[in-house]
Amino acid sequence: MKTVIEPFRIKMTEPITLISREQRIEALAKAHHNVFLLDAEDCCIDLLTDSGTGAMSAQQWAALMLGDESYAGSRSWKKFESTIKEITSIKHVFPTHQGRAAENILAQTRLRPGDVIPNNSHFDTTRANIEFVGAIALDLICAEGLDTGLIAPFKGNMDVEKLEQCIAEHGREKIPFGMITVTNNTGGGQPVSMANIRAVKAVLQKHDIPLVIDACRFAENAYFIHENEPEFQDKTLLEIAQEMFSYADAATMSCKKDGLANIGGFLICNNDKWAEEFKNLLILREGFPTYGGLAGRDLEVIAVGLKEALDYDYQVYRHATVTYLGDRLEKMGVPYVKPVGGHAVFLDSRAFLPHLAPLQYPGIGLVNALYVEGGVRSVELGSVMFGKRDADGNEVPAPLDLVRLAFPRRVYTQSHFDFLVEIISEVWQNRDKIPGHKITYQPEFLRHFTCHFQPMK
Ligand code: F0G
Repeated sequence: MKTVIEPFRIKMTEPITLISREQRIEALAKAHHNVFLLDAEDCCIDLLTDSGTGAMSAQQWAALMLGDESYAGSRSWKKFESTIKEITSIKHVFPTHQGRAAENILAQTRLRPGDVIPNNSHFDTTRANIEFVGAIALDLICAEGLDTGLIAPFKGNMDVEKLEQCIAEHGREKIPFGMITVTNNTGGGQPVSMANIRAVKAVLQKHDIPLVIDACRFAENAYFIHENEPEFQDKTLLEIAQEMFSYADAATMSCKKDGLANIGGFLICNNDKWAEEFKNLLILREGFPTYGGLAGRDLEVIAVGLKEALDYDYQVYRHATVTYLGDRLEKMGVPYVKPVGGHAVFLDSRAFLPHLAPLQYPGIGLVNALYVEGGVRSVELGSVMFGKRDADGNEVPAPLDLVRLAFPRRVYTQSHFDFLVEIISEVWQNRDKIPGHKITYQPEFLRHFTCHFQPMK
């Protein structure tokens, strides 16, 4: 098989530089050893997130110039709405400034304290929005999804039996809707099969519970379905996405992922009563329903981006870049979550640094070592981000300590990935020298963003 090439060439460049090792050490110390506090220009390869960090196509830049900035009923809104309806066939469309704004409106209007929302795995903003109104966010990921070394095609699936149990235990009245997140970001960017979406829908429907899809990476999920569910090998990604959304009563979306845009999101639903409540809160929080916190030009860009994300050649290339890194890690014996996800490679930092206890935060040690070695910025998804406290106030580590290398869309080329492999290899060979970290300052909520660390001697 021939090399999968980037299905684009580069028309505009943005400089990146690798500051010296001494400067990187100094920058990290100044950032209190927390890469969230670094200046972006001090990062050479920035894999902190795939959210809003993608490169726009010539078609998107051209569409941007067509932005109709009318307050109400703009041309750009009509394009935005009709594109979303073409993909989802869902009746009511509300633009939001990003995904969490859609989650906020959904949670504020539909949830009461004590309600229970099952999902395969909630993303942290989804969980936070649910918990903020006093409801409970439950993760019902399938057993394979928790086994980082197991190779299986759809490790993002929900455990349908657990869903049945959840409904039996809490009762339909306590569950205003169920969710499914495609792909499952928190669980390694693993996809959900169409069979699983159908099964989840069937269970929810039996109990008259609506299904809400967290659709951030719907196009990547459609690609995995195309590749791994034989029934879909002759379907287009658009047709697959259309079937996925046919099971949804509503969806939340961050267009910063598979909208291939730098900002934007939406909330959609079929139920007229929900729509009425969404609309009223949207006007209060985001803006008039035909722009919802976005400029007309953003609506244009998203309308083009949603369709580009469903381009098969684009998804083949995108998946090839993620797989390329996975294959190189495999050869080096570096532990990572298998198979590689749709938007990221997740290193298993607990297995990478077995000399560190979970509460010495191996994820932070690895993230910081990657930065010092090559100016690579990654993110810890482990005991700092998800650690909890027991009844006595003692810190309890997260089930897994991972480091996510998220791939911005259409941004880095193969040589960037070759460089990344060299950096990981260097860090891997010197792993026994990587120190643990302790936290010297932390805020009350979402501590990972702003806490300070100190390396241990
Ligand atoms: N749902 C999922 C599955 C996500 O991954 C994200 C964002 C959101 C909802 C919220 O969307 O950022 O537009 O408000 N994930 C980013 C990440 C931040 O780095 O994984 P948003």
